[in-house]
Order: sequence, then C-alpha cells, then structure tokens
Amino acid sequence: MAEFDLVVRGGTVVTGADTVRADIGIRGGKIAAIADRLGGPNEIDAGGLLVLPGGVDTHCHIEQLREDGTADEETWASGSASCLAGGTTSVVTFSTQFKGHGILEPLADYRRRAKHSLVDYSFHQVITDATDEVIFKEIPQVVAEGIRSLKVFLTYDPLHLDDRSYLRVLAAARRNGALVTVHCENYEAIGWRTEALLAAGHTSAKYHSWSRPSIIEREATHRAIALAEMVDQPIQVFHVSCAEVAEEIARAQYRGLKVWAETCTQYFVLTAQDQDRPGFEGAKYMCSPSPRDAAEHARMWDVIRRGTIDVVSSDHSGWCYEGTRGKRMNGSDVSFRDIPNGVPGLAARLPVMFSEGVSKGRIDINHFVRLTATNPAKLFGLPGKGSIAVGYDADLALWDAGKKVTIDNATMQQAIDYTPYDGLDVTGWPVATLLRGQVAMRDGRVQAEPGSGRFLARAPYDLIKPRGVLPDGFDASAWA
Ligand code: URP
Ligand code: ZN
Ligand code: ZN
Repeated sequence: MAEFDLVVRGGTVVTGADTVRADIGIRGGKIAAIADRLGGPNEIDAGGLLVLPGGVDTHCHIEQLREDGTADEETWASGSASCLAGGTTSVVTFSTQFKGHGILEPLADYRRRAKHSLVDYSFHQVITDATDEVIFKEIPQVVAEGIRSLKVFLTYDPLHLDDRSYLRVLAAARRNGALVTVHCENYEAIGWRTEALLAAGHTSAKYHSWSRPSIIEREATHRAIALAEMVDQPIQVFHVSCAEVAEEIARAQYRGLKVWAETCTQYFVLTAQDQDRPGFEGAKYMCSPSPRDAAEHARMWDVIRRGTIDVVSSDHSGWCYEGTRGKRMNGSDVSFRDIPNGVPGLAARLPVMFSEGVSKGRIDINHFVRLTATNPAKLFGLPGKGSIAVGYDADLALWDAGKKVTIDNATMQQAIDYTPYDGLDVTGWPVATLLRGQVAMRDGRVQAEPGSGRFLARAPYDLIKPRGVLPDGFDASAWA
C-alpha cells in the first residue's frame, strides 16, 4: 500500500509563521508528512506555486433563511462552489432567528440545506429576540450542538437588539462558553438621520453612507465593548470599516480585553462614492457599515499592519442585482432605506486581499495567511483548519502568485448575478483547491460534489474563556 494517498510536490509551503520549500504527503484526508522530498503514485505538481492553507471565511451569508420561508439566492451548492473557485475550504455562516420565534426550528431547516455544501461549514446563531426561552433554554442547546458563536445586530429593522437584550446575550454566552460577534452601528442615530435625509429629498443610493457615518459605527463599537467588559464576555467586532473604529478596538486590546476585530474585502477597494453610480447601479455597492472614502484604504492597511484586526472575511450576501428577490425586492425606484444591504464576495476575498496586500507589498504572505485562514480558524475554534501542519486537514490552495486576472462575475462562479469587484485587476490566483486531500477545484473547474462538505461542530476552547475580571466582583451573568 502506498504511504500517501496524494503528494503535493515541489511547492513553497506557506503558513502564518513560515515559508518553506517542501512536499506534503496526504493520507486519509489529513497532512501526514511535510518534508524536503516525498513521493508516491499520486502526485500533484505544485512547482512554481505557493501552497497555502485553504481559506477560512468566518462571516458569510449563504442560503440564509428569510422570514417568508424562502432563502437567499446564493444556495449552498453555488456558494460553496464559489468558495472553492477562490481557494476557500471552510465557512461559518448564519442560522437566523425571526422576532417572535425561537431558534431551533430555523436551525433544523438550515442544517438540512447546508448538507449540500461542497466545503466544510459551521454556523453562528443570530439572536434577534432575547426571550427567556431563547436565553435560558435554546442557546444552551444550540451551543451544545457545537454552534459556539452568537451574532447580534445593534442596528437594522427588525433584527436589532437594545442594550438590555444585548447584555442578556452576552451573559448567556458567558454561561455557555460561546463567543459573541457584533454588528456595531447605532440604530437610533441611523433612524434619525434617515428620517432627515428622506425629508430633505435625499433618497438615492448614495445617501446610504450619509445615513450611517463612521461616528455611528464608532459609538456602537465603544458601547459593545464597554458592555462586554462589564459582563466579562469576549466578543469579535464584525466588519470594521475604518481606522476610527479600529482605534476603539485597539484601546480595548491594549487594556487586555478579549476583543477581536474582523474587517472585509470591500473596505480595501470599494468606496462610498461607488454608491453614487448612475441609475440603480449604486445599490450594487451598498453594504453596512458603508465603505468610506478612498483615503480610508491606506488607513485600514495601517491598522492591519499594527495587528488590531485579526480576520478578513467576505461578508458575502445573497442579493442578486436583477430580479425581484434581491436588491430590487422593493422596486427599482425606492429610497436607499428600502434597498437590502450586502455585497457578494466569497471567491473574490483571497485574490483581492492577496493582490492588494501581498502583491502590492503592503503585508507579507504570512500575514495574509494569518488574516484569511489561521486567525479565523483559531478564533472560532476550528482545530485542524487554517494552517499546514502534520495532523491538520489537507485543505490547501495551490496559488499562482504571478497570475493576472481581471475579475468579472464569471470568475466568481456564484449564483449572484454581479460582483462589486467587476473590472478589478488582481495579481495572484488559486489554480487548485484541495478539501481534506481531494482535489475540489482545478484550473477554475469545480469538481467536488454537493454534500462533500462536513459540519464542523465546535467544542469548548480556551481562547474565548472569560478573563475572570468583573468590575466589582459581582457576576450578574449568574443571575440574569
Ligand atoms: O450589509 C451587510 N453587511 N449585510 C450583511 C448582513 C450584515 O450586516 O452582516
Ligand atoms: Zn453585520
Ligand atoms: Zn454579514
């Protein structure tokens, strides 16, 4: 019997720490050996290529359930194929709650849908209604099933939680050993500004960013951190859009709090001015928080280099541009308030960040791997993912660092009918993606079958344990 099922020969292996010339021997879906020279009957030639850990995208919306019983237009089969096209092998997506309902039923439905995935997957549990039943009965059950992160929105109708409900979720997470992820924008301030903008006749897509300036994100971030500190509960701030917000997080980190930060691809290449494109086009670039102006991109690279930001995700959203179920679901002549938020980006994430970051010399390749694979895996408790080491899953992206591609929607291989990165020139592209030792994408052709992805149940892990520091020693989370 051959020693290895497959050998990845002749590549340059890159982890979050090191870059070495080595071959990788794979057995039973796992990395069995990393050595100067390995061989076997089945080899894949990685000569001239980088061998990166498969990307880990810990914030993306795939086939997310809608309240009317349907789901987003990006299905598990299409979304996970798009992941493979872009070098990503694991995702964490969202099981939703609808106000007035519990979390168990949608979770059961969502689990059934996710069985079609071509990549490995886990979920965050969204909490939009912090009832006693959800807080004391259902969250413990869901966390015990391995869904070890909760997501809360401090804005959006009808998703947002007020501060009291947010505190209840923080306390529930502390009791049950889960991480809380937070969408930080001030709900009341956005509502007030939106009302004023509409009254002034400012209705087009470009006013989306006017309705939610960075100060609104900064305030909510500060509040989210302060309340998490009071409860002594670790959090991850999602989709940080600008340095002003990152500075709030840096201050918390400096004080030793367990506060981590995620940003997304769009905050390095899109701007608020994209929302001012003619006609309805601006809707394609509308997400929250809003991309800021072009000068912010350089400031974001600064906070990345400083280490404030741990993770870069796609925040892929499942709204098509055309049709009646996506950006135009409320019509094509509605105000910015009635256009759904979010942009697609599963396949674009690694190529855009590699090109803008590594190819343009802003970060080194190891930092790129940490941001897009190693840190997300560690922070969300996915052992065996996000790095290249003996015993790890053989999830790999074989990467041509010199390959030039102009992004269009066909290269994204997604069900969403547009990409906000259309026309962007990138240098660096995945030529093959392996999931647990199987070649799942080669030369742009996705060859994995729906259902080949596995659910990743997440066990308790030390990183997200509370610090044990309470303001006055009283642990309110034991009581409420
Ligand atoms: O605009 C965005 N980001 N839409 C997706 C949902 C969210 O806020 O994460
Ligand atoms: Zn969000
Ligand atoms: Zn999101």
